[in-house]
This record gives sequence, C-alpha cells and structure tokens, in this order.
Amino acid sequence: MPKAPFQIRPARDADRLPLAVLFAEVAEERTGIATEPPVEVEARAASWTLDGTLVAVAGGSIVGSLHVEPSRFGFGELGMAVARDWRGRGVGSALLATAIEWARDRGLHKLSLSVFPHNAAAIGLYRKFGFVEEGRRVKHFRRASGELWDTIDMGLLL
Ligand SMILES: CC(C)(COP(=O)(O)OP(=O)(O)OC[C@H]1O[C@@H](n2cnc3c(N)ncnc32)[C@H](O)[C@@H]1OP(=O)(O)O)[C@@H](O)C(=O)NCCC(=O)NCCS
Repeated sequence: MPKAPFQIRPARDADRLPLAVLFAEVAEERTGIATEPPVEVEARAASWTLDGTLVAVAGGSIVGSLHVEPSRFGFGELGMAVARDWRGRGVGSALLATAIEWARDRGLHKLSLSVFPHNAAAIGLYRKFGFVEEGRRVKHFRRASGELWDTIDMGLLL
C-alpha cells in the first residue's frame, strides 16, 4: 500500500478537541486502550496535557497521537492511538520514533507502558522499537462487560 503523507509535530492548544475526539473514537472500540465509553470529550479536551504529546496530521486532521508522561524518577509512561482508517501505514512507527527522540532529549532513561495481551498490533510495534516484556499483571483491568483483563508491562531503556 502506498504511504499516504502525514506529519508528526508537537501538540498545540488548537489540537485539544480533535485529540479528545480521536481518543473517544478509539475508546468506542473497547479493545486497544483502557478507557471505555462514555468519554466526556469536552472535559478530556480541556484537561489534555499538551507537553509530551505528539500528533500525526494528515490533510489538516489529527490521525494519531502519542503522549509521554515523564515521572519524577526518570521514566516516562507512554500511551498512543492511531485512527482506525490510518492503521498499518506507519503512523504509529513515526510517532514512536519521534517520542523516543523526545524522551532522550528530555533526559529520561526509560519508556514504559502497559498493553492488553490480545493487542498484537501494539505489541508488534513496541517490539519493533526494542521494547521488551517485563511482566504481566493478572486480571488487572475490570472492563465494563465485567471481564477481567491482564496487561503486559513493556519497557525500553533509552
Ligand atoms: C497500536 C497502533 C498504535 C499501531 O499503529 P499503526 O499506525 O497501525 O502502526 P504502524 O503502521 O506504524 O505499524 C508498526 C508495526 O506494528 C506492527 N503491527 C502493526 N499492525 C499489526 C498487526 N495488525 N499485527 C501485528 N503487528 C502489527 C508491525 O510490527 C508494524 O511494523 P511493520 O509495518 O514494519 O511490519 C494502532 O493499531 C492503534 O492505534 N490501535 C488502537 C489503540 C491502541 O491499541 N493503542 C495502544 C495501546 S497500548
């Protein structure tokens, strides 16, 4: 598939609403990210932490985002999402490559994240960038359905 053009840049104030809308859409899928509907889009937009957020933009629309939350202890927690129609085109890879550079520039020594074990696309992406599995939290997340889902912790030393 030819790669459609998109750009990665730091998030800015005008991105708040589209960031929250994308987040709500991915939450509706109920598979990749921990948050499930309903998402209060306006509240989420207002509270979004822009520092450490990167966006992927195509044709003026936000088609992906990634956030690194630096801790006081030198590691940063990472979360990301790509719009469904844009998956498999390198957007996640471009976001993650930029985030790794950003984290190094910030002086972080490690990136970490949690991923559901069924999320083969995300695990494949993280492994491609050198993240390793560090452990498994058993029945950690209670879903709206009542199911209890494990998560896999992954980390990348920078
Ligand atoms: C996970 C996610 C961010 C990946 O983004 P993406 O833009 O599709 O990723 P890319 O196109 O850059 O693919 C990167 C790598 O991921 C892996 N990958 C992607 N899709 C895959 C799939 N369906 N199965 C297995 N591996 C896959 C491959 O290793 C791929 O590298 P390659 O193309 O060089 O082989 C995206 O699927 C997504 O937003 N999912 C929903 C939200 C989510 O799960 N967020 C992560 C929570 S931990």
